[in-house]
Amino acid sequence: MSGNGEGRCWDLCVSKCCRFIITSGFAALFLWLALRTSKPTCSIQDFYVPILNKTDHSAITRNNHSILFDLKLDNEMKEKGVHYDNISLTFFYGPNTSLPIANYTVPGFYQGHGKKARKKLVVEAHGLPWESAFNNVSYGPMSIFRVGLSTKVRFRIVFWYTKRHNLVVEANVEVNESGKKVNKKGIKLKSGSPECGCYLGLSLFSIVLVALL
Ligand SMILES: *[C@@H]1O[C@H](CO)[C@@H](O)[C@H](O)[C@H]1NC(C)=O
Ligand SMILES: *[C@@H]1O[C@H](CO)[C@@H](O)[C@H](O)[C@H]1NC(C)=O
Ligand SMILES: *[C@@H]1O[C@H](CO)[C@@H](O)[C@H](O)[C@H]1NC(C)=O
Ligand SMILES: *[C@@H]1O[C@H](CO)[C@@H](O)[C@H](O)[C@H]1NC(C)=O
Ligand SMILES: *[C@@H]1O[C@H](CO)[C@@H](O)[C@H](O)[C@H]1NC(C)=O
Ligand SMILES: *[C@@H]1O[C@H](CO)[C@@H](O)[C@H](O)[C@H]1NC(C)=O
Ligand SMILES: *[C@@H]1O[C@H](CO)[C@@H](O)[C@H](O)[C@H]1NC(C)=O
Repeated sequence: MSGNGEGRCWDLCVSKCCRFIITSGFAALFLWLALRTSKPTCSIQDFYVPILNKTDHSAITRNNHSILFDLKLDNEMKEKGVHYDNISLTFFYGPNTSLPIANYTVPGFYQGHGKKARKKLVVEAHGLPWESAFNNVSYGPMSIFRVGLSTKVRFRIVFWYTKRHNLVVEANVEVNESGKKVNKKGIKLKSGSPECGCYLGLSLFSIVLVALL
């Protein structure tokens, strides 16, 4: 008789325990979904180097060392905002990335849910081998530039901000004899090292599960 009673108690305990684990698991899952963040997408929508425009023979353009640049920053999250620290842009010419030809800083700003921002910039390039670049676009098929972007972002979830996360991305831009980027579509800036934005959420989820079991 007493054995039977103990057994029933044990069953009750197991089922309570199971319910607790399942509920907590779901709670952790929802928490993870609510706190999950993704870094903004950065892309180059326009890139124009007037001096490399072969058909423009005006003296003014032949001495213009500017690069015209249109950057798009896209916060794809529907419920979270993004705060950008100062964004530094670095430009390189050719495969040599030890010598920047231009720098630019976009002041930090806040970007709301699902918002896109466009930054149209003009930067002055220095130390670029203009003649060789001009030859490249005229006789080679193109000249290759490299653009690096680096900043730190904080995500805003309801009322509070997360800690800062590094956002470091880059891309090559091929320029033809019109001085324009060859690629008609936007060029997405990508991270050099593989990373996973869901890492924090996943580890939180597994810690909670492990703690429960
Ligand atoms: C290149 O220069 C020509 C002549 O000035 C001009 O008509 C053309 O619009 C320029 N190309 C671009 C992409 O601005
Ligand atoms: C070079 O040309 C572009 C476009 O025509 C212009 O926006 C820029 O100010 C010029 N740069 C200089 C230094 O004049
Ligand atoms: C951001 O850039 C501005 C100038 O554009 C500078 O005055 C400010 O100190 C920078 N802030 C940080 C945190 O580097
Ligand atoms: C320019 O052309 C030369 C020869 O084709 C090539 O070696 C070099 O990498 C090119 N430079 C750029 C920046 O595209
Ligand atoms: C890149 O440019 C720097 C500075 O001009 C030079 O010292 C270095 O040798 C260059 N590297 C390559 C791979 O061309
Ligand atoms: C870009 O910034 C770096 C570091 O601040 C500096 O060493 C370099 O001279 C700058 N280059 C140009 C072209 O302004
Ligand atoms: C250079 O590329 C731009 C954008 O793809 C294109 O509109 C233009 O016709 C190209 N110019 C030449 C000379 O191929």
